[in-house]
Amino acid sequence: MNLGVVGTGYVGLVTAVCFAELGHHVVAIDTNAEIIARLSLGRATIYEPGLEELLTRNLARGGLRFTTNPEDAIRDADIVFLCVGTPSRSDGAADCVHVEDAARIVAPLLNGYKLIVEKSTVPLNTAYRISRTIRGFAGGPVNIDVASNPEFLREGSAIHDFLHPDRVIVGVDSDRARALLLDLYRDFDCPILVTDVPTAELIKHAANSFLATKISYINMVSELCEAVGVDIKTVAKGIGLDPRIGEGFLQAGLGFGGACLPKDVKAFMKIADEHGVDFGLLKEVEQINRRRVDLLLRKIERALWVIRGKVVAVLGAAFKPGTDDIRGAPALAVIPKLRKNGAVVRVYDPKASANMARALLPDQGLSYPDSPYDTVRDAHALVILTAWDEFRELDLDRISALMKTPIIVDGRNLFDPTEMRDRGFEYYTLGRGDVALPLRAALEVQGAR
Ligand code: UDX
Repeated sequence: MNLGVVGTGYVGLVTAVCFAELGHHVVAIDTNAEIIARLSLGRATIYEPGLEELLTRNLARGGLRFTTNPEDAIRDADIVFLCVGTPSRSDGAADCVHVEDAARIVAPLLNGYKLIVEKSTVPLNTAYRISRTIRGFAGGPVNIDVASNPEFLREGSAIHDFLHPDRVIVGVDSDRARALLLDLYRDFDCPILVTDVPTAELIKHAANSFLATKISYINMVSELCEAVGVDIKTVAKGIGLDPRIGEGFLQAGLGFGGACLPKDVKAFMKIADEHGVDFGLLKEVEQINRRRVDLLLRKIERALWVIRGKVVAVLGAAFKPGTDDIRGAPALAVIPKLRKNGAVVRVYDPKASANMARALLPDQGLSYPDSPYDTVRDAHALVILTAWDEFRELDLDRISALMKTPIIVDGRNLFDPTEMRDRGFEYYTLGRGDVALPLRAALEVQGAR
């Protein structure tokens, strides 16, 4: 099929590259000429495992093209995917300005039947608004359907998630749209749920809000675990083995961040509110999530007593492992707070250091060393903010020897507290119990260095 993709952010780029990989002819457009130039040269604009390989392969094969000219993407397309961003407005609702812009761009270029598909996460009834906008700006009668086909890919495994989804949701209100989308997805080995358009739109927000709820639930349980001296990891395992609950999204820690979950929870509450439904549960989910960073900061303070003048090594800037994305990352809250309290902060992330250094500029008190070991040298405490596998595999004895005081405050519960005690660390967790050395022993360790 000939496919047009409007927007080359996370969802747009992955959609374009993956459909090209599946043998379709894809033309993707973006208003940002710099992004289009980079992508046309086969250089990925985001870090995502496997993306660049697919990008270069399909550019070379001729099945994929990037352009700033909308006509190239719309003219021959059977289906046009709208994959533009829907950031949060100050009132929490999704801002659909880019969706409307995309509809206005498409409208005058229509030449015969086209199926317009929204893949962005959008509020209820956006498809109808897109349809109305296109009809209003087309300058004549148009032959279109607008469908909803929400995307559930996760950053860090986006290519895999796109090519091997758990399910495909197709929201349509005509037989023609239904047939086209079922044909597009015919080789996918997963359930395909066909619904009307508003149902598909609602499913996306409901799914992300449920995932956020699951994370806040386990984080709340982890607070209780700390209070009663029980290990949250074992509790999570114990409840996750029940297939009705499932093992996924039960990792307690710093809570949910990123570009989607926080924004989608807000937008879902707003949608409910606009329809007279008070979704108080999600308010609590947000509040529990906000508290996680505060809990971590309190632990850092407890471990260091006075933060001013101390060197704090931070491992992890990305909002989760496998990505260079720092949107909604706990590091954006933790690092400025440490700096404000007078700490000298060093930050290392396998992929996201450069992005963080653009957001929080290096200065005398904030630097971005190239290795985790340079980061912890002479540090008074090490704070873990992202669950990269690289951090699990660190040589802990080397870390301990390099630090001024072997204190780790772990926001992602990467290590076993008993093992850390045996290695001589003071080790603070979120829900697994803290290994704090008695004051005298701690002073002896410090004195020996
Ligand atoms: C999410 C949805 O999973 C995806 O379906 C949707 O299309 C986009 O939003 P993503 O933002 O890439 O994907 O990340 P995800 O893997 O869902 O993690 C979100 C946040 O929750 C991260 O900050 C992560 O660290 C946190 N998380 C996840 C936990 O704190 N505990 C868990 O058990 C799982």
